[in-house]
Parts: sequence; structure tokens; C-alpha cells
Amino acid sequence: MAQDQDIFKKIISHAKEYGFVFPSSEIYDGLSAVYDYGQNGAELKNNIKQYWWQAMTMLHENIVGIDAAIFMHPTTWKASGHVDAFNDPLIDNRDSKKRYRADVLIEEHRAKLEDKIAKEVEKARKRFGEQFDEQKFRETNARVLETQQQIDRLTQRFVEALNQSDLVELKRIIEDEGIVCPISGTRDWTDVRQFNLMFETQLGSLAEDASKLYLRPETAQGIFVNYLNVQKTGRMKIPFGIAQIGKAFRNEIVARQFIFRMREFEQMEMQFFVRPGQEMEWFEFWKQARMKWHRALGLGDSKYRFHDHEKLAHYANAATDIEFQFPFGSKEVEGIHSRTDFDLSQHEKFSGKKIRYFDPETNESYVPYVVETSVGLDRTFLKVLAASYAEEADRVVLRLPAPLAPVKLAVLPLVKKDGLPELARKILDTLKFDFACQYEEKDSIGKRYRRHDAIGTPYCVTVDHDSLNDGQVTLRERDSMEQTRVPIDSLRSLLAEKVSLRSLLEKNG
Ligand code: GAP
Repeated sequence: MAQDQDIFKKIISHAKEYGFVFPSSEIYDGLSAVYDYGQNGAELKNNIKQYWWQAMTMLHENIVGIDAAIFMHPTTWKASGHVDAFNDPLIDNRDSKKRYRADVLIEEHRAKLEDKIAKEVEKARKRFGEQFDEQKFRETNARVLETQQQIDRLTQRFVEALNQSDLVELKRIIEDEGIVCPISGTRDWTDVRQFNLMFETQLGSLAEDASKLYLRPETAQGIFVNYLNVQKTGRMKIPFGIAQIGKAFRNEIVARQFIFRMREFEQMEMQFFVRPGQEMEWFEFWKQARMKWHRALGLGDSKYRFHDHEKLAHYANAATDIEFQFPFGSKEVEGIHSRTDFDLSQHEKFSGKKIRYFDPETNESYVPYVVETSVGLDRTFLKVLAASYAEEADRVVLRLPAPLAPVKLAVLPLVKKDGLPELARKILDTLKFDFACQYEEKDSIGKRYRRHDAIGTPYCVTVDHDSLNDGQVTLRERDSMEQTRVPIDSLRSLLAEKVSLRSLLEKNG
């Protein structure tokens, strides 16, 4: 774990050194939990967006995309329940003066207990070798049984406390489990309090006529309030989906782990409107479809798992997270929620407008049910970056999925003379219409390869003296470092096959 933390620190510095992610307004010492994407980060982020957008809108003929405003009528957030209930339970440690989310403290404590069992199991596996029967060991070993009972008791109390928003009980659990502050190591805790996560601002210049607005904490509501507009103008038939990518804002109190939890971030959300009663089928469909989308990136299938929610939000009848194995543990990258007709019904109630669908197949008019897929763009970025980072004997390489790489092809003249730069530029001028290419002539060829390894460029071509006569260049592949001689004329089709989004999209089909 400590080793993973070290790697994570290196990934963060690599991201900065190579123009992927910078602390926001760094010249003023930065702003906590806010980050800027640099020249390579912006490209990688755009490529992830394209992959998601095209997977949604091009692979599904019944999904269309919109781009709603960040500011919304303030009643939106009353109707959605965010004004009253978008809260985190917070607790302070009096000695360290640090503030924590009470639910996260308890979840981390539970994860430690689960680790304890996993260690016992591994120890026994080594001791018994091939004859080891894990299930039997878990069912009979006294230490494992005792810890498992502790976990079960804790889980039951925790879920009940969350379901009843019982803040006193949450504090009691922290005390009873002997959870200490990670900084001070003490148990001197304050009471648990609710804290609303929405940022407020004002519309209008004069304080007296200004009205309170919120920066949207999720993009989904921009889709719900446009349901009728899109359904009517697009003549959409249920089931259909509306997709959107955009900024969301949350006043996260405990913002940690680099771009994993930020105060300003981007979501890629899709609301899928279905006939009531069919939502569970679609929930299953979207669970599998979204897992496929993630796995197509080739970062390692075993790094993903579903985590079904123990506490369902009041509007949901099913919810699961797709978790990814980050260097700091298995954490949520995407939420998939069956949101029933809650949001549309609430907007119907608060706006006084009928938000219905007339189903010609059943001759009924109803408020559609919704299955939502909601993936964090920044978390997807972090997942791709962390899983691609590799330290090798004489280089650091980002093994990014080729279609997501900021630069697809580096064109490098072997020397800065003898007509090689001119030919290299000619190659670049032909290929730049299809791929993000970069021209570089400074430093030795080895140094140039290393620079491109570090930003994840999947291919480099080197133009040498032979190229002038035989019309061929050396194509070097990032991961294998293999070099092959290829005709200049074949570069376009060779690259198209390897670096276009099509190769990723096909895996979703
Ligand atoms: N509309 C549903 C919704 O917003 P959520 O589980 O709160 O659900 C969805 O958020 C996704 O948004 C998460 O899985 C995560 O990837 C991303 N996300 C949420 N809060 C975030 C934060 N503070 N920083 C970065 N990403 C965040």
C-alpha cells in the first residue's frame, strides 16, 4: 500500500511535469481541490469525452446529446431535493482540527477489517499450499469469523444510521469502533453535522433584487428539465436517452487524492427514459454496457468491480457503482441508478407543467421512469493515467490506449539538415488532417523518443537519409519499442487502424 502511495505521488508529479494537470492558479499557491488541465491533459480529456459521446450517440440510434446551461432556475434544486438533502455528514477531530466525512471514516474502518481477513486468508494459503480450501477456512477460522461478525454488525448499524439520517448513531459507531483521527491519532470527536454541498451565487447586480442561484451539483437536472423539449423536437419514442457532458460543482469538505474528488469537475451523464415496470431490465442492460465501455480501454479487466449500494437514495429503486482499482484502493468511477419517475414527477409538481409521454403501443400516458449512467470525466482521466504509468529500466512510459493519446504521431528528422526536416514536415503536413501529430528536431533521437514515451505518444516516425531515396521511414512503436521500415504512403492507413476511436468503439458493439 505504501508502495502504491509512492507510485501515486510520482504519477501526480509526472502529470505536472509533462503538461497534463496543474494545480489551479498555481502562481498564487493554488486553490484547494481545483485543478487545471495542461496542453496534454486537455487533449487526453477531449479524447475521453469523444469516446463517451460517440459510444452514446453514434452507437445508439435512440440516444441524443444536449448541452444545457450550468445556471438553472433555482426551483430546479428545490424540486430535485438538493436544497433539502444534498448533504454530507461531517465530524471534526478537536486535536488535529481536521474535518472528515463521518460515513467515509466508517467505510475506511470497515475496509481495514476486510483487509485483515484478506491477510489471514493469504497467510493460510501460503501455509497450506495447493490443498488450501478458502471457503472452508473462512467458515471455520476463529479469528476470521470474529472479524467477519464485527463487519456484519458494523454494516447493519451503519446502513440503518444512514437510512434514517441518524447523526447521533453515526457518532456512536465511530466511538464504539474506536476509530481514531488519522492525523492526531485521538478519539476526541465533535458531534456529526449535516453540510450542504451546493455552491451559491447571485443573479443580478444589486444585492436587493438579486436572486439566489446554485452552481449545478450534477448535470442530470439539465436533462430532466429538457425532457419535453427533446422528446417533442426529436420525435423520440420511448425507450430513448439524452446524453450530456458538462461541469458540476460540489463544495466537497474532504477533498483528497488529486483529481479524484474535486470542487469543480466534469460529468458525462445519460438519462434513459423507459416505460414504468421495465426499468430493472434497462438497469441490467446499462450495467453491462457501461462495464464494457470501461473494459474496452484495455486497462485490465480485473481492476473493475460492481459495488451495489447498501443505502438507496430516496428516489432510487436500484443503484450500483463501477469501481476501479486506483493506487489508493478500489473506488467509484461511475454510478448507475434506477431513478424511478422521481425527478420528472417532482418537476411536474413544482412547475405545474405536464411532463408525460403518450405511449402509442399501450395507449397510455405516463411519467417515464429513468435509468441513469453517470461517469466522472476527471476520474476516468485519473484511472487512465494511473493505469498507464509504467517505470521501466531506462524510461518512464505512459501506455495510454492509443486512441486517447494526446499526440498520435511524432515526426522526427534524424538530423536538422540535408533535406530531412523538409521531408519530415511534408509528412506531417499530409497527416495532420487525420491525426494529432507533432514535429520535433531538437536533441538526439533517443531523447526525443523518451519525451514522447513520457506523454504516451503511441508512434514515432524517423526520417533518415535513406528516406530521401526509398520513400520509407522508421516507425517506432511505444510499448514494444519495435522499429520497422514502412513506406511513407502507408502511414495514414497503418495509423488509422491503430489510433482511431473506431477501434475502441467496435469493442462496445
Ligand atoms: N447524477 C448522479 C450523480 O451525480 P454521483 O454518484 O454523485 O451521481 C457521479 O456522481 C459521478 O461523478 C461519480 O461516479 C464520480 O465519477 C463523479 N464525481 C462525483 N463527485 C465528484 C467530485 N467531487 N470530483 C470528481 N468527480 C466526482
